[in-house]
Amino acid sequence: MSAFQMETVLSVTHWTDTLFSFTATRNPGFRFQNGQFAMIGLEIEGRPLMRAYSMASANHEEALEFFSIKVPDGPLTSRLQKIREGDIILVGRKATGTLIAGNLIPGKRLLLLSTGTGLAPFASLIKDPDIYASFETIVLAHGCRQVSELAFGELLIEGLQSHEFFGPLIKDKLIYYPTVTREPFRNRGRITDLIASGDLFSDIELSGLDRDSDRVMMCGSPAMLEELHTMLTERGFVEGSHSAPGHFVIEKAFVDR
Ligand code: A2P
Repeated sequence: MSAFQMETVLSVTHWTDTLFSFTATRNPGFRFQNGQFAMIGLEIEGRPLMRAYSMASANHEEALEFFSIKVPDGPLTSRLQKIREGDIILVGRKATGTLIAGNLIPGKRLLLLSTGTGLAPFASLIKDPDIYASFETIVLAHGCRQVSELAFGELLIEGLQSHEFFGPLIKDKLIYYPTVTREPFRNRGRITDLIASGDLFSDIELSGLDRDSDRVMMCGSPAMLEELHTMLTERGFVEGSHSAPGHFVIEKAFVDR
């Protein structure tokens, strides 16, 4: 049995010159936990060319969704960005990853901190009804260079807000905090700086970072992850894993080629 399944592209959306997302069929046997990733790719000259991608779709959804960057000379993304409806992609049979609720000890507030395509696993998690049962408040922060790069996330949130089931569920629970670093926007600056200064919390009228009640998941640029790791560790937060749940978990945004 091949390690990969062939799936059919259902739709492709180009958000900016550097970002696109796509949906594909999902084999009913492909199971995953919200927040996990799988290897996905294309067959190139008879061989699979695969990279790790977080599912942006939730596990209760029929189709798979992925959110990707486009790198002009990237071996996979230079080709993947050209896919169209009806094309075949390869999807690994096994999903894995640390950004799952079970890797966190119980808490009151869940902070989902992302930059760029690091939003993807959280797009999946915020469509998980269980996460709203586990936490009183969920803050989804997404940092990008330009306002246009927020579009995928903005539409996702709008879709949930107007959704028959999720609308009422997220109303008083999910706080979306987009921030932009390189042009004017209502929230400006890096997520790290906004947490360190406390501005992120005062902007959304919530209390500051607190180890006793906050749990953190982060995904995005390696530099951001490193800084947040240091910041949280200094405040006594302990990193969680499959073997020992903790106060925070980390996944990098994988595809850079
Ligand atoms: P900045 O514009 O100040 O570099 P990239 O496109 O390079 O992956 O960056 C995505 C977002 O992540 C940008 O807004 C970028 O801000 C921000 N970023 C880059 N490095 C860090 C870091 N060390 N901590 C927090 N945010 C960061």
